Amino acid sequence: MIALTTTSIAWLLFAVILGGWVVYAFLNLRQSRDELGSEQEVAANRQKFYEDEILEGPRLTRVLGTGVILLVVIVIGLPLYWILEPARLAGAQDAKEEIFVEWGSRLFAPTADGGFNCSGCHGGMSGNGGSAPYNLTDPATQQVTSVAWNAPALNTIFYRFSEEEVRFILVYGRPFSPMSPWGVAGGGPMNDQQIDTLLAYMHSIQIDREGCGLGEDDIKTCPSGNLPAATQNDIDTLANKAVADGTYSSYGEALFNLDLASGAYSCARCHTLGWSWGDPGEPGQGSFGWNLTGGSTNARFPNEADMIDFVSNGSTLGAKYGVASQGSGRMPGFGAMLTSEQIQAIVEYVRSL
Ligand code: HEC
Ligand code: HEC
Repeated sequence: MIALTTTSIAWLLFAVILGGWVVYAFLNLRQSRDELGSEQEVAANRQKFYEDEILEGPRLTRVLGTGVILLVVIVIGLPLYWILEPARLAGAQDAKEEIFVEWGSRLFAPTADGGFNCSGCHGGMSGNGGSAPYNLTDPATQQVTSVAWNAPALNTIFYRFSEEEVRFILVYGRPFSPMSPWGVAGGGPMNDQQIDTLLAYMHSIQIDREGCGLGEDDIKTCPSGNLPAATQNDIDTLANKAVADGTYSSYGEALFNLDLASGAYSCARCHTLGWSWGDPGEPGQGSFGWNLTGGSTNARFPNEADMIDFVSNGSTLGAKYGVASQGSGRMPGFGAMLTSEQIQAIVEYVRSL
């Protein structure tokens, strides 16, 4: 409708302008014919002009003065523009990003504050990890059980997923979990702009990574950056404690199963059915992520090093991995969250399943 109106207006303008040109051309032709007798007058270049005193006096000064002023404008203005423009562009971009973060924070906010309550499930505005109420329906008996489902910390989300992968999760949600689709394409309420602002907000709450440049906070742009050593030490301490008190029999098993930041650091969240609502089945038997037991996973990674590589970098949509497999981008990369010793221990545990 709007497009139609715009097109009509454009055609109208075009017609008016075309008409104007035709009238102008017509008048011009007539006028040039009228000039027949004009050679009677003295031609412009033969008419009397200013006297020399005026021409070479104040008038010359004025013209030269104007020239100097224009020169100054060019000499000072151009370099100044050249110097200031990049800063202006960067400033404009920063300002836009700040606005995006601010808009995103409003969407992230609790329902009571007019937001979509990401914070309510994911552990507040800092996205520390929380839990979500959910009703499970038993597929066989149709019995409904209310559970609290772990909602992983989001302040490390770009440690394990690229921006495109996080966008996919936001748009399509996690089927069969409390995480509903938010983008229009997935059947949710948010347009692309709103998803963009949410991504900007989530970038702003990431725990600062060690060894990455500004803005390089996702696993794909800075795979070498790490979680601050203090946090990694905390994970280490908790895992060792769980082994010491007999909860798990190995360091790798502890890391695979531990509930840290609502599962943000663990594997069981996706690879063990029931883990997310506190009723885990056999570890590694598969849920959202593949079943890792029974040998097929080991067959896909004949070399331990390849599995370490895969767990460190995660999968990428369309990229091949292991033997005869193709990733979907849904397996996170843990290289930036866990140390190489931790990943090695986990992989050894996975290979023992
Ligand atoms: C009703 C509770 C709930 C709400 C509201 C909610 N989420 Fe989630 N979200 C979850 C749960 C639970 C998971 C984990 C699902 C699973 O176990 O795979 C999750 C997963 C995610 C993930 C993937 C994390 C990962 O590491 O796998 C992202 C990103 C995410 N949510 C972002 C958001 C954003 C942004 C919003 C707000 C628009 C939001 N969520 C709203 C409950 C919620
Ligand atoms: C957010 C959910 C999620 C988490 C957390 C997760 N995975 Fe995965 N994982 C997947 C998915 C999904 C796949 C299937 C590959 C794909 O879709 O790209 C997968 C595949 C794998 C595979 C390849 C399996 C095969 O047979 O091809 C291995 C090995 C693996 N994960 C290990 C781990 C380990 C170890 C951890 C913890 C350090 C972990 N995963 C955490 C979702 C997850």
